[in-house]
Amino acid sequence: MGKSTKSCPLVATTLYGLEDVLADELESLGASNVKTMIRSVSFEGDRRLMYKTNLWCRTAIRILRPIKTFNVSGDNELYRRVKGVKWSDFLDTDGTLAVDAVITDSVFDNSHYVAQRVKDAVVDRFRAETGRRPSVDLANPDLRINLYLKENSAVLSLDSSGKSLHRRGYRMEKGEAPLNEVLAAGILALSEWDMKMPLIDPMCGSGTFVIEAAMMARNIAPGFARREFGFMRWKDYDPAVFRSLRIEAEHSIKPGLPFEIVGSDSDRVCIRQAKANAARAKVNEDIKFEIQTFEKQNPPPAPGILITNPPYGERMKTADINAFYRMIGDTLKKKYDGYRAFILAGNLPVIKQVGLRTSRRIALFNGPLESRLVKYEIYRGSHKKKTARPSE
Ligand SMILES: C[S@@+](CC[C@H](N)C(=O)[O-])C[C@H]1O[C@@H](n2cnc3c(N)ncnc32)[C@H](O)[C@@H]1O
Repeated sequence: MGKSTKSCPLVATTLYGLEDVLADELESLGASNVKTMIRSVSFEGDRRLMYKTNLWCRTAIRILRPIKTFNVSGDNELYRRVKGVKWSDFLDTDGTLAVDAVITDSVFDNSHYVAQRVKDAVVDRFRAETGRRPSVDLANPDLRINLYLKENSAVLSLDSSGKSLHRRGYRMEKGEAPLNEVLAAGILALSEWDMKMPLIDPMCGSGTFVIEAAMMARNIAPGFARREFGFMRWKDYDPAVFRSLRIEAEHSIKPGLPFEIVGSDSDRVCIRQAKANAARAKVNEDIKFEIQTFEKQNPPPAPGILITNPPYGERMKTADINAFYRMIGDTLKKKYDGYRAFILAGNLPVIKQVGLRTSRRIALFNGPLESRLVKYEIYRGSHKKKTARPSE
């Protein structure tokens, strides 16, 4: 990237459905020329902004720095194009590398094979120049290279994040179906929670929603607890720039919150894990954790926000899972008057059983699972008539 003030093109990748949220985040961090694509957002910025987006973007998975774009129609051409890059600018012969390949609608259909070809081209270039070659380290390389191929157009990038940015560094304890931190942060942004009213996740599992919510409200950078980013092992790493960003982030943390964030779950093991995660994220004093069933939980006084992802019911009988989602609707009616509720449902057919009028539905992916974020405004008039409830 040369001088740290020189602007260059960058790409932030994200999850399907969160592109606009990420674009807003990038703009507020000072990115220019921000353009949304599918599962990614392109922008421009200097080295400082690249470090800053890694530290601060709640909804980015990776920040990539494209170094070459080209069209490719076959295997040998791909190899030649990648070998044409002066890789010694980015990596030493005795360093280590890994290659990720992401392919959509392409002449190639095997991303693993494409990644191998890219790796071969890089190491062959070193071998031709020095007689030696860097080695591969898939888990913890000095340089992570990313190739994105759509149809026949390729973008070759350096991955400035290294490990995915959803790994904030606070989660050691996982429940059975923990939510990706990036998805949780994206849903919180989509909920338009004003960070002034109470927020509850009454089926909080390992606590992802409430921990991300507390970090947002206290303005704790999502990457604050992370010790490593890919760019720290780049040849042009400027530790003084990153140090100043961390100091700035430390000073911008807000003290305790004047409203309640509540995480509850019927499973005591989940609550133990959630508390340990919250402690590592340094937000344990901001969240009230309780072992309680959703049915019996008493939320903070309205107005408030409920955000949750209930069990998908893959191990339940159909009648039981239908009854469970009806219970969710009945409990919302009974106890959450004046709340806005957001349910992330991975089981699309059963969500109708909630039986309340939906005010918004957003398509998202929870891993490979197509899901819906369904919004309900809970007030007396929002209830569907009893007869409108779908028959079982
Ligand atoms: C899909 S998991 C939630 C995962 C969570 N979002 C996370 O990030 O770890 C669903 C959770 O609902 C809890 N649960 C199931 N039935 C419940 C009930 N009736 N009341 C409260 N919690 C319940 C389970 O214990 C489980 O932790």
